[in-house]
Amino acid sequence: MLLFLLLLLMSCTSQASHFFGTLITYYPTDVRSDGAVTVVLRSKLNFRSCNDYTHATWQCHRGNCGSQTSAVAGTVDSESTGQFCQTEVVYTRQVSTNAPFQLWLNSGNWISGIVNRIVSWRALIRVELRNRSDTGQANRSPQTTILPVVRVPSNCPRQLNLLTFDPDGDEVKCRYGDASEDECNPCTPPSVLNLSSSCTLSFGPTGSGNQGPYAVQLVMEDFPRQSITLTQTDGTKENRTTDTSISKIPVQFVLQVDPVVPSCTDGLYLPRFLPPTPDHGVQLYVLVNQTLEIRIQAEANMSTISELLFSGPHNMAENRSGPGEYTLTWSPSPSEAGQSHPVCFLVQAVLNSTKYHSDLRCIIMTVGGTPITTTTLAPTTVSSTTTLAPTTVSSTTTLAPTTVFSTATETVTNSTTRPITAVTSAPAGTQNFIVALHLKISSSSPLTEDNIEDTFLQQLKDELVRQGLPSSTTLRLLRITEP
Ligand SMILES: *[C@@H]1O[C@H](CO)[C@@H](O)[C@H](O)[C@H]1NC(C)=O
Ligand SMILES: *[C@@H]1O[C@H](CO)[C@@H](O)[C@H](O)[C@H]1NC(C)=O
Ligand SMILES: *[C@@H]1O[C@H](CO)[C@@H](O)[C@H](O)[C@H]1NC(C)=O
Ligand SMILES: *[C@@H]1O[C@H](CO)[C@@H](O)[C@H](O)[C@H]1NC(C)=O
Ligand SMILES: *[C@@H]1O[C@H](CO)[C@@H](O)[C@H](O)[C@H]1NC(C)=O
Ligand SMILES: *[C@@H]1O[C@H](CO)[C@@H](O)[C@H](O)[C@H]1NC(C)=O
Ligand SMILES: *[C@@H]1O[C@H](CO)[C@@H](O)[C@H](O)[C@H]1NC(C)=O
Repeated sequence: MLLFLLLLLMSCTSQASHFFGTLITYYPTDVRSDGAVTVVLRSKLNFRSCNDYTHATWQCHRGNCGSQTSAVAGTVDSESTGQFCQTEVVYTRQVSTNAPFQLWLNSGNWISGIVNRIVSWRALIRVELRNRSDTGQANRSPQTTILPVVRVPSNCPRQLNLLTFDPDGDEVKCRYGDASEDECNPCTPPSVLNLSSSCTLSFGPTGSGNQGPYAVQLVMEDFPRQSITLTQTDGTKENRTTDTSISKIPVQFVLQVDPVVPSCTDGLYLPRFLPPTPDHGVQLYVLVNQTLEIRIQAEANMSTISELLFSGPHNMAENRSGPGEYTLTWSPSPSEAGQSHPVCFLVQAVLNSTKYHSDLRCIIMTVGGTPITTTTLAPTTVSSTTTLAPTTVSSTTTLAPTTVFSTATETVTNSTTRPITAVTSAPAGTQNFIVALHLKISSSSPLTEDNIEDTFLQQLKDELVRQGLPSSTTLRLLRITEP
């Protein structure tokens, strides 16, 4: 009996020390006038084995967390040699008021041997559902994802740009977790990384003594671009400024610092992406029930590309079509209309059983299928007023839902039968979509049709490309009206 108990204990402990990090995001899906909210939380849980996610449970930490009404789990992707597996669990929660609450994951252990000495796992999300004065809606969290493990050779400088998409158009910032806020336990940052508030992690080169796995425990937050008021259904109000965050989500993963590689040049040992792989940060559009195809191609001349590793919705499928050629496909369901979902990917190559990672690329997939409003598109495409000088977009209030992304006319498409809803399915690499923008502009210099065409359209295009649209985007002036 004693022996039996002992064995049981050991098996529990070993199962619990397989954690490779987590993240969780949320979308409110139904907000009732009495304050009751249905919120969908999507969590990525990373473990050695695909079944171990059952050891991790998001529990109420603070506030009225309501009750979980469903949880749907599916494997996202697993590493071919069995290093890790990422599972997505989609939880639906019902809360009776739109007051903020916090959930946390707090048990078990990370993989052993973490260089920055993190042992226990802990992660925390603050869900903010109060009505925002600027959007007239409940807040949505930043949308991002990350792979369980990202590898960097110790002798190469590398930059890791996390995806920072916010459905409300908020400014997204990153910081390391704070143990006093229960965001991690402990929160010791990796000594080999520099983190910028815009969520870029800069690495090395560093000495070979710094090799090994590091736990990266970040918190990503959304900040309003101007002061707003959050209103609870009971009438209580709270303000948020550009310095106070609205919601916060954890982003935790393992950075693996590997032995020296003979060359840091992309495309030799470290695989490099080739066209038509989409650029990092682009936004692709897909309609409900249609299929978005993302074609990825990579090369490595000195090593052998062995697999694509990705992190996205669990019902995203991967297909290999040739050496270093992959396709990811995803078909959003009607319940995902209006939402934006992230996917990140990289290519892994091997030589003499050493693994090499390409850069990480992430894209955001925006789901059309219901009337498109500015809340899904506008804030991310035109947000800056200062970069459009000398002709500037006069203010964000002119970018109201009624004026921006109105449906296109036949002038745009030569098609009279189909109103373009700012979105069409984007087949492999082409990213076709047509948007009619209605902007109010003002300028200190005279506004003639010529200088609008020559100067303003170029500046607007540059800004749209900077915000993630493909550089092949073209803009045409349809009509000018005096205010
Ligand atoms: C949120 O506020 C807007 C106006 O600011 C109002 O139209 C809307 O009904 C409010 N939503 C809820 C759920 O109270
Ligand atoms: C990180 O920042 C420190 C101090 O600014 C600098 O010395 C170091 O080179 C930086 N490291 C990387 C990897 O950028
Ligand atoms: C919140 O902001 C509103 C509008 O700017 C202002 O009238 C109010 O006094 C602020 N409340 C607090 C508590 O700062
Ligand atoms: C890899 O080989 C291809 C074909 O020979 C060549 O075009 C490419 O430039 C090489 N890549 C690098 C990084 O040298
Ligand atoms: C999507 O497919 C579902 C199930 O086949 C169907 O009920 C729904 O009407 C479709 N929605 C759209 C927008 O095509
Ligand atoms: C792609 O892969 C999935 C499994 O990941 C498979 O079900 C599907 O048939 C494949 N599609 C094509 C076009 O090969
Ligand atoms: C890989 O193995 C071969 C043969 O053992 C050796 O010559 C080569 O230096 C190794 N390459 C690397 C990058 O380790």
